[in-house]
Amino acid sequence: MKTLLKNCKISGQNQNILISGQVIDYIGSNIPDADIEYDIKNNVVIPGIIDPHVHVRDLKQAEKEDWTSASDAALTGGITTIFDMPNNRPPTVNLQFLNLKREKAKKAKINYKFNIAATSENISQLIEILKTNPDDVTALKLFLAGSNTNEFVKKEEDIKQIFEISLKYNLPVIVHTEIQQCIENFSEKIKDRTLKDHNFIRNRECSVKGTELVISLAKEIGNKLYLAHISTAEEINIIKTEKNNCNIFCEVTPHHLLLDENILKEAGNFGKVNPPLRTKKDNERILQGINDGTVDTIGTDHAPHILSEKLQSYMHAPSGFPGLETYLPLLLNEINIGNITLQKFTELSSGNVAKIFNLKNRGKIETGFFADLTIVDMNKKWAIQAKNFKSKAKYSPFEGMTGKGNVIMTFVNGELKYN
Ligand code: DOR
Ligand code: ZN
Repeated sequence: MKTLLKNCKISGQNQNILISGQVIDYIGSNIPDADIEYDIKNNVVIPGIIDPHVHVRDLKQAEKEDWTSASDAALTGGITTIFDMPNNRPPTVNLQFLNLKREKAKKAKINYKFNIAATSENISQLIEILKTNPDDVTALKLFLAGSNTNEFVKKEEDIKQIFEISLKYNLPVIVHTEIQQCIENFSEKIKDRTLKDHNFIRNRECSVKGTELVISLAKEIGNKLYLAHISTAEEINIIKTEKNNCNIFCEVTPHHLLLDENILKEAGNFGKVNPPLRTKKDNERILQGINDGTVDTIGTDHAPHILSEKLQSYMHAPSGFPGLETYLPLLLNEINIGNITLQKFTELSSGNVAKIFNLKNRGKIETGFFADLTIVDMNKKWAIQAKNFKSKAKYSPFEGMTGKGNVIMTFVNGELKYN
């Protein structure tokens, strides 16, 4: 089957795209014959967003999110590929649990890959998975601290062993760099902990120390290190200096770019997240880091929880909130106000992700590449209303925010999946 997208704006030029089956066959000014035609009306076409940081849940937490609701949320947000994180019930720590997840993921309407857990206890099971050379596994995920219910690694020796495995099997290790002991030390300094203490308890120092630690270990071992959801100016500075010395990559989230802890006064626990929302200065340094080449990717850290859980008191409310449907509108608005160029954005949101995680023929609009395409109307106004989310988690710290630039169509492997 041949599909023609007429009048696409790609890198500022008016082009027609012919898709044959799942793949882009032609880009240019000719109008080839096709079975289906769409007039894109000179709207901007970008490579489908690849989100390397999504917590789909499903399995025993399907009430929080499942592959159907996560897919619908992703498509609404122009996201065509997601990497699912392993801190599920049951956690993705062995082949048996990975296979359970593979079964559930068959419902997905988008492309997907899995990041598998690396803990102190699952080294042999990890190797068992990796020996099968699975092409649906993109990375190992390592936590240095608890964040809701995940296992975390404390000993440097264990981190090194995980890095050795990542080197041997040529997969990046994604690290959540907050250090548990450090969090506990800060936590003890406060008696009656409330939400306003979250940024102090999960102190910036705990993120910075963890980032320093894993960079030094990765330099020693030589593995590919991917630092997830970097939240502080200090870390951006460290990564900027160390980038030339080792194989490190840096992800930021839309919330650490655009929100600071002041939003908690309005958002309450809807804004409780790990690492915490920091300060305006950190937001600014992250933006600079995007524009000076320190930041490689954007990940949503879409982390849905049930509304009633989020409405509990600070100590009981889980961390995390949905991000799939807010990511692209928020970033298109940043492009519209001139903070980021469209080209830089497409590097961070698709091209770099495909490169870092070795996705073949995805992440660019080129002949021979899969037709994962997101069509955006740069002038379409939006207001964030979480009650309309396709995600099961219908709340957001961005509630009520307004801006310009939104998704109008999402194609996955050549098929129109959202409009
Ligand atoms: O806020 C967070 N929520 N941070 C994490 O690292 C985990 C996530 C979740 O799974 O809920
Ligand atoms: Zn996460």
